Amino acid sequence: MHNIRQISPSLHWVGGNDRRLAYFENIFPLPQGISYNAYVLTDEKTALLDTVDYAVLERYFENVDAVLGPRKPDYLVVHHVEPDHAAGLMQVVQRWPEIKIVSGAKTLQYINQFYDTDFASHFLEVKEGEELSLGSHTLKFYFAPMVHWPEVMLSYEVQEKVLFSADAFGTFRALPGSLFNDEVDFEADFLEEARRYYANIVGKYGLQVQMALKKLAGVDIRMICPLHGPVWRSNLDYILQKYDLWSRYEPEDKGVLVAYSTMYGHTENAALVFAGLLADRGIEHIRVFDVSETHFSYIISDIFRLSHLVLAAPTYNAGLYPPMHTLVHDMGALSLQNRKVAVIGNGTWAPASHNIMQKMLAEMKNMQLLAEPFLLKSALSAAQRPALEALADTVAASVKEKT
Ligand code: FEO
Repeated sequence: MHNIRQISPSLHWVGGNDRRLAYFENIFPLPQGISYNAYVLTDEKTALLDTVDYAVLERYFENVDAVLGPRKPDYLVVHHVEPDHAAGLMQVVQRWPEIKIVSGAKTLQYINQFYDTDFASHFLEVKEGEELSLGSHTLKFYFAPMVHWPEVMLSYEVQEKVLFSADAFGTFRALPGSLFNDEVDFEADFLEEARRYYANIVGKYGLQVQMALKKLAGVDIRMICPLHGPVWRSNLDYILQKYDLWSRYEPEDKGVLVAYSTMYGHTENAALVFAGLLADRGIEHIRVFDVSETHFSYIISDIFRLSHLVLAAPTYNAGLYPPMHTLVHDMGALSLQNRKVAVIGNGTWAPASHNIMQKMLAEMKNMQLLAEPFLLKSALSAAQRPALEALADTVAASVKEKT
């Protein structure tokens, strides 16, 4: 049975929700699912705006049929060819052979690669700033390379002032029947998953997100229709400001994330003592994670949120304990920058983790080490407690600094 939502008399949501997929991109846990949004715009001509993932393709076609009835779609606008949105492309073309696929040149290259088919005869190439009239509605196209693949295109419907934003402004978490941001408690129910989605999926491309935001700065946008998560029809500044902060790698809150690895609990003990010392010093936002327990995508998300970061890990095989290595490597891969950091290493013989973490952080941009790495020899000793308190003084003072 179809399951559509009307956005305006001419615009419908025809996507689907997937609560059965365990890992997005086979990496990121989806405990609350994900939505694949797609839209249909009807006028003298009709346009499908993207397709969906295979998981919900049957629903998509039921939804499109429910909106269009006996009409055939004239256009399929492809904003992004990643298969969570373009998996239905071949079936769309097989169902409606006269349909025109509207997108940029890179899209044609990529869909030909994915499907090992030449779609050139179905393709209507558009360039930056070009428009496509559907009747009283007009789509204007903007390219947003690397948000989050090179071919990504945004479109703006001129009459209703709607931005179709591809992955930008998307979130993990399936839609609860509600579609619009003002039908949900976004801050309570979606913000963490929106940040986790941004940080891990788009986070590497802050510069390109900034370029897209600047390109759209003069456009009168009344509604944002992303490919995942709620449609924004009110309070657009809220999500635009979050994206501006995240893409400039600026923290949302002053606070400390303590991420630790531990083999037998000794590094954990030092990390937890340290977190308590921060609390003693009045630090409000403290988040503590065992990197072996918590999927790195959640830790990365909170690193994007908070101003300060403390990493604590043992030495392992003369290197850095592998789960911590994965986390720090991912921070670098995502171009994380502009954080104040401290490092706690541990080693029973030939300790190395402190130096490796320091070196990896030094390779990232503007990661300010607040003190020399703190070295544990097997376990935190009573003799070292004053030094740990001094490190807590330093980190707490930095958090409280007025900037
Ligand atoms: Fe939702 Fe980049 O795909």
